[in-house]
Amino acid sequence: MRFVQFVVLVPLAITIAVDAFHDCVQSRRNSLKSRRRRPGRPSFSSDTSSPCSGGICVGMTDGPHQGGNASYPVAWNGTTGTRLEAFMTVPQYPKALDGITYYIWTDIFFGDESLGRMNQLVPQLLLGSVLDESTGPPDYKPKWHTHETWMFGAHYFFETLNLTTMKIESHAAYGPLFPAYPGETVYTLFEMILEGTQNDADTTSNKTSYVTDSFFPIWTSTMQVVGDPSRMSILPIRHPYMGMGRNWPRPSYSWFEPNFQHLCLNSCWELYGAIDAEHVPTSGAVYNLTITQPKQEHSHAYYDFTTWEQDEGNGICPSCRVEEHHSRDTQQVNIEIQVV
Ligand SMILES: *[C@@H]1O[C@H](CO)[C@@H](O)[C@H](O)[C@H]1NC(C)=O
Ligand SMILES: *[C@@H]1O[C@H](CO)[C@@H](O)[C@H](O)[C@H]1NC(C)=O
Ligand SMILES: *[C@@H]1O[C@H](CO)[C@@H](O)[C@H](O)[C@H]1NC(C)=O
Ligand SMILES: *[C@@H]1O[C@H](CO)[C@@H](O)[C@H](O)[C@H]1NC(C)=O
Ligand SMILES: *[C@@H]1O[C@H](CO)[C@@H](O)[C@H](O)[C@H]1NC(C)=O
Repeated sequence: MRFVQFVVLVPLAITIAVDAFHDCVQSRRNSLKSRRRRPGRPSFSSDTSSPCSGGICVGMTDGPHQGGNASYPVAWNGTTGTRLEAFMTVPQYPKALDGITYYIWTDIFFGDESLGRMNQLVPQLLLGSVLDESTGPPDYKPKWHTHETWMFGAHYFFETLNLTTMKIESHAAYGPLFPAYPGETVYTLFEMILEGTQNDADTTSNKTSYVTDSFFPIWTSTMQVVGDPSRMSILPIRHPYMGMGRNWPRPSYSWFEPNFQHLCLNSCWELYGAIDAEHVPTSGAVYNLTITQPKQEHSHAYYDFTTWEQDEGNGICPSCRVEEHHSRDTQQVNIEIQVV
């Protein structure tokens, strides 16, 4: 029985991770309908009598998970860009570890260009049977292992359409993995930083029109344990799709491309196999997120921050409280997840 469950769980988890949580709006011109929650999407909740089942997600009110178009502009003033810092506490282990796949994270994600089908920067805390490694270049194929204690790493998950098979393929890039312990606080940072001369600019064909600047912004994703710099996982993402889109019929190679000019944010306890209270963490967690946009020196414009709320989960167990406040260019989101 256990064997059968395992065999079912792994591909299911992959499919869910791919389809369920990560649709971000394309440019606002695009049809929202195509970005809505897909029908038949499995829910965290199950019909057991236990109130504790599945995970929980918190995101922007009227965000893609609710079928809405809320997103934040990616700002870049020439030296500094949009920045997200998140702290979260590592929960206590569940009583039972069998059959679980836990991904616990704060992410940023973008729309797609060309053959891209998924574009999510998602450093994560891992437990159970999880996607935790990559084959690296050139194919960036995901690899899975099982962990009975918490591990974490910076991570970029993306998908591409293979024009030969017309199938969507999953890809991953990972920073190094480190252990984390219940009660510790882990820190996640996403920032746009300036990278040096783009000496590999494509001058031999007319395919690539974006890579002409001598300096260009890259996204980096970092995850570390607060107070222990030796456990720090960093992943620089110089190009969307890790550069795999460079030779596509319509290349995608730069974070300046139009569909990367908005981003969506979420924090999730993405817990699969958490079918009852035994398989849910035995403590909650506290998160705080700070979203910072560069100052708009010569304008009186405000950034358009939206409110946040729970948008996945059964609302009973785990439950959560979300509060948000913002100023002209900074937003603070506090999340408190409780079990019981
Ligand atoms: C979402 O779309 C609605 C309807 O088109 C529009 O009124 C609203 O401003 C949009 N919101 C955002 C955040 O783009
Ligand atoms: C598409 O799939 C085919 C068949 O599996 C494979 O040989 C090819 O390398 C894939 N193309 C890309 C760009 O990954
Ligand atoms: C690039 O475009 C220019 C102008 O359209 C054309 O003259 C040139 O041959 C093209 N180069 C290549 C490598 O396709
Ligand atoms: C967020 O949590 C961290 C870790 O507990 C704390 O050091 C930091 O001051 C908090 N930030 C805010 C803005 O509350
Ligand atoms: C960009 O914004 C940062 C932070 O607000 C500021 O320190 C920097 O001077 C700005 N750079 C330019 C070129 O305006």
